[in-house]
Amino acid sequence: MPSPHPPALTPGYRSSLLRAPARPPVALQAEDGGLPFAPLGALDHDLLRNAAQPGGRPIGERLLVHGFVRDTGGRPLPGVLIELWQANAGGRYRHPRDGYEATPLDPNFGGAGRTLTDRDGRYHFMTVKPGPYPWRNGPDAGWRPAHLHFSLIGPRWGRRLVTQMYFEGDPLIAACPIVATLPTDEGRRALIAQQDPDAFVAHDHRAYRFDLVLK
Ligand SMILES: [Fe+2]
Repeated sequence: MPSPHPPALTPGYRSSLLRAPARPPVALQAEDGGLPFAPLGALDHDLLRNAAQPGGRPIGERLLVHGFVRDTGGRPLPGVLIELWQANAGGRYRHPRDGYEATPLDPNFGGAGRTLTDRDGRYHFMTVKPGPYPWRNGPDAGWRPAHLHFSLIGPRWGRRLVTQMYFEGDPLIAACPIVATLPTDEGRRALIAQQDPDAFVAHDHRAYRFDLVLK
């Protein structure tokens, strides 16, 4: 069965020319040992509040993003550190190289959060739906579909997954050169979160379900 993962070097996504490793990977000798990281704060998972000014709230459609992290055998993985980063509702990042001038930064939105999976492998974030943004892919210009960046580490050092989540129904997904680096339809589908009408938060929130698998 073909791997659903993108190869590291995919020239159609130009940044991979510089980012792809030029040498074979080094095998980890010992994978044991916990993951050292600063203790989580009570609002780390809540991007609606974790960078807001006193009394302020970010602009944008409210989202609950939730799901399970499991291993390839379907067993839930507790204690996985999940980090999330994203653009604001207008498609802007708090990053010095973000020069998108069409929309401002949101003083009440930092665009980053983190959480740990619970004992059932479950996680959730509260956030806003990110806007699409323009980007250069070599000589080409295009639009990134709305997306959330995810990094998962754990429960041991050697298990790391960096990926992106997309939103069902977004017409930009089909035209995205980064999404196109995934070699299979199955892999592409796995990155598209579906709306979850059963996970009701409030009348003005939408819920999306996004499950992840760590090798
Ligand atoms: Fe991005």
